[in-house]
Amino acid sequence: VSIIMSNEPTQRALRLFTEGKALREFVDIMRREGCSIGFAPTMGALHAGHLSLIDAGRLECDVVVASVFVNPTQFAPHEDFDKYPRNLANDTALLASRGCDAVFAPRVGDMFPADFSTFVDVGPITRVLEGEYRPTHFRGVATVVLKLLQIVPADRAYFGRKDYQQTLVIRKMVDDLNVSAEVRVCPIVREADGLAMSSRNAYLSPDERRQAPALYRSLRLASELAAGGERRVSVIDSKMRGLLQQTGGIEVQYIAFVADGTVTPVDIISGPTTVALAAQLGKTRLIDNLRIGD
Ligand code: PAF
Repeated sequence: VSIIMSNEPTQRALRLFTEGKALREFVDIMRREGCSIGFAPTMGALHAGHLSLIDAGRLECDVVVASVFVNPTQFAPHEDFDKYPRNLANDTALLASRGCDAVFAPRVGDMFPADFSTFVDVGPITRVLEGEYRPTHFRGVATVVLKLLQIVPADRAYFGRKDYQQTLVIRKMVDDLNVSAEVRVCPIVREADGLAMSSRNAYLSPDERRQAPALYRSLRLASELAAGGERRVSVIDSKMRGLLQQTGGIEVQYIAFVADGTVTPVDIISGPTTVALAAQLGKTRLIDNLRIGD
């Protein structure tokens, strides 16, 4: 266990764990002392979106634990596992500055040894939207999140709403498998120009970075059209695609209109609806979403 002293104003120390057993012992001691535990799983390359999860945990829990683990099981062989940004020194400094109490940074071989063979399949909600483009992704996410929640039996676990479908998959897994953690979903944090914060934004070329905020502009357009009385998804969808096409450089994979809190498609906006989209900008795949129709 390494202890990293945080700077003002928190005065807390961040403990760095690489072994699950040692972290579990720390969490058990804290629980015996009557502390509630918040947990924010991440893949590192932390940005303000991740730090908002730590802040939410700090508000609601006595002890906040984060994990930094680039989970190989949620990447397909052709995806960006190898080039995914990794910078544990910077991540620990950021976590310390936000008053996080412990960070878990396990080795891949400890989490997924060569003979690992148990995976969590959350069923139909993992097959649509993201699941159509990344068929093995949610199985890897659900498996690693369940493993992490076994190591850190948290009272509350924090996830960002940018990964809308992931939050649904994790809620379902937690319900189905009697995991005691309460799933908390925090709002998307955006750059000043509206681009949703993502560790993958670092891949964008300067041109792609200029084009990328159009994703959010298209979601805002959907929201404005719905607020102005347009109910037909087909009309909103085609106006969004028009905006994205005009911007150039953006290859839409899907734009989905689903009843908020589900992956059930809607044709008419008649209540809270989430518009979720995925697009490719050059080699970089980005996702975003917005709740409309309130
Ligand atoms: O959202 C992420 O960063 C990852 O999918 C998660 C939840 C940390 C699991 O690896």
